[in-house]
Amino acid sequence: MTDSSVRKILVTSALPYANGSIHIGHLVEYIQTDIWVRFQKLRGHECYYVCADDAHGTPIMLRAQQGGIHPEELIAGFNAEHQADFRDFGIEFDNYYSTHSPENRTLAGQIYQSLKDGGHIISRTISQAYDPEKQMFLPDRFVRGECPKCGAKDQYGDNCEACGATYNPTDLKNPVSAVSGATPIEKDSEHFFVNLSDFETMLQEWMSDSKVLHPAVKHKLNEWFETGLQAWDISRDAPYFGFEIPDHPGKYFYVWLDAPVGYMASFKNLCDKQKLDFNEFWSADSKAELYHFIGKDIVYFHSLFWPAMLTAAGFRKPSAIFVHGFLTVDGQKMSKSRGTFVNARTYLENLDPEYLRYYFAAKLGSGVDDLDLNLDDFIQRVNSDLVGKIVNIASRCSGFITKRFDGKLAASLADSELYQSFLDKETVIASAYENREYNKLVREIMALADRANQYVDEYKPWVMAKQAGEEAQLQAVCSQALNLFRVLMSYLSPILPLMANKVEDFLAAALTWKPEPLLDHSINKFKPLMKRIEQKQVDAMIEKKEPEPEVEFVDYEDFAKVDLRIAHIVKAEHIEGAAKLLRLTLDVGEEKTRNVFAGIKDAYTPEELTGRFTLMVANLKPRKMRFGLSEGMVLAAGPGKKEIFLLQPDDGAKAGMRVK
Ligand code: MSP
Ligand code: ZN
Repeated sequence: MTDSSVRKILVTSALPYANGSIHIGHLVEYIQTDIWVRFQKLRGHECYYVCADDAHGTPIMLRAQQGGIHPEELIAGFNAEHQADFRDFGIEFDNYYSTHSPENRTLAGQIYQSLKDGGHIISRTISQAYDPEKQMFLPDRFVRGECPKCGAKDQYGDNCEACGATYNPTDLKNPVSAVSGATPIEKDSEHFFVNLSDFETMLQEWMSDSKVLHPAVKHKLNEWFETGLQAWDISRDAPYFGFEIPDHPGKYFYVWLDAPVGYMASFKNLCDKQKLDFNEFWSADSKAELYHFIGKDIVYFHSLFWPAMLTAAGFRKPSAIFVHGFLTVDGQKMSKSRGTFVNARTYLENLDPEYLRYYFAAKLGSGVDDLDLNLDDFIQRVNSDLVGKIVNIASRCSGFITKRFDGKLAASLADSELYQSFLDKETVIASAYENREYNKLVREIMALADRANQYVDEYKPWVMAKQAGEEAQLQAVCSQALNLFRVLMSYLSPILPLMANKVEDFLAAALTWKPEPLLDHSINKFKPLMKRIEQKQVDAMIEKKEPEPEVEFVDYEDFAKVDLRIAHIVKAEHIEGAAKLLRLTLDVGEEKTRNVFAGIKDAYTPEELTGRFTLMVANLKPRKMRFGLSEGMVLAAGPGKKEIFLLQPDDGAKAGMRVK
């Protein structure tokens, strides 16, 4: 490749939220992008793949609060988990960062300032649901109540899952805050908006280039243009986890303002580490290419807001936005109760990541159609294509080379025309990669694999091996087959990078695009490259239910059975040989005191507890423990430090009082 044909390409996948685990639905996108990036790198282009965790917003703030930790701790934990999941799926970022970073703060501030200087920010007072107890404004998702249309209970503030109606949180009947359970009130607040219609002409022109968006996506955008572009609310009130707006203390950038800027910030961070030129990729006159891979649910943000922000701040716009559809499993939406909401880690505990990389590739086209993981088809397809066709070529021929020819391949090709016909498919396969028509190139490669297997079947090396005087031909046929195998594996290497590494070791040669044949070349002993999928592995993966987030309600009658009482801690003492337990002697207003063992030794000394009041379940069945009989249970909550409820006697707490 000549220097002038080396493209400079920056690629991103959407930034996963930092409050949840990566699941197989996400993986559609990261696998799709990783394959594309590996292909570009294989072809010698200068390509960078950056991503980050999307770390801001109300759900992240609340989730950290629930866990009793700082949001920084929460997002650090998920960052490490996400990176490990991606790594184990062979997804290779050049940089993986976080939107909660100094680079992002600076760049987001800079873009906001440009929008403001350009006169694109307007201020409006809006009225919003407010939780008077928690003292915070509530995003639509955090208001629940009865659907104003059909009366269905416990619906979100923006739409009804029962009848599909859309409405405002204020329309809900008997609304409650999902955060505190309080009844929300309406409260006014000043918000800042980006006047998106200022950018309409620019956006129309940008998307008129047919390379920028898939026709189906463009169609959707046209609908939005027809309804008119609405001003975009980019501010949120404290408390919020995000970046404070520089000139408006107490106001924060809405998470979606700084999220896409996270692409730039992650790249900036990479530039600083590797001495790359940031401006070469982001200046308005950049010759570099910029591609965002995203799911169909976040098109609005990427094709309207994002180009507007970039333009306002004097940066370049994306070269294209590649939109994919959603994953279904066996034709249905992923579901926890069906066991099909599979986390990346759960998959990895049961199956080889390259099965999924291959299966997704075999099904992915350039369009926005949803993609189905049909579990029977998955097993069948991987076993028959990868194990039955690809690996089969090598496993049938390599043994003879090792045992009979000391690992040496023949000095010339037995059928150079056939070899050439494999190389000739290069243009079709390369353009299918470039256009993200992976399903098409997988078909091409599998047709070649059939051809290679036919070749082996025709000459039957296992028969030749038993015939005298056919040594040279045996070596020639096996060498030919292994060279064909190598071409196929080089075509597949962006999809199967881990298997490709094993093949490079086995052949003692690199997998390059359009390889010269290996002649008179020593290879290593063949080791199994891939196992067949067993039905029981898939069953085990689906079996494993993720924890249900849904609350299981109990009837009032059940609750009423619990005898909750105030207990006076008459005595608290250490127990010989117990690591966690303290022995409590509790007065619950009965003649006899109760003996209760509680696992709170890490949090309290006996001195701190003696004489205090706490809550206990007085009618829990007595339980025989190693140190004696435990006659009840004291109530605790919290992250594992000070966690038993202690009451103040001057609030009127009295031993034996019933609590309801
Ligand atoms: N944080 C935002 C993106 C900000 S980008 C500046 C977000 N995060 S997400 O975790 O919800 O989703 C990350 C990506 O995964 C999105 O592109 C989304 O479309 C994709 N997918 C999430 N679930 C998916 C499926 N079930 N199927 C296919 N893709 C899915 O959105
Ligand atoms: Zn309804």
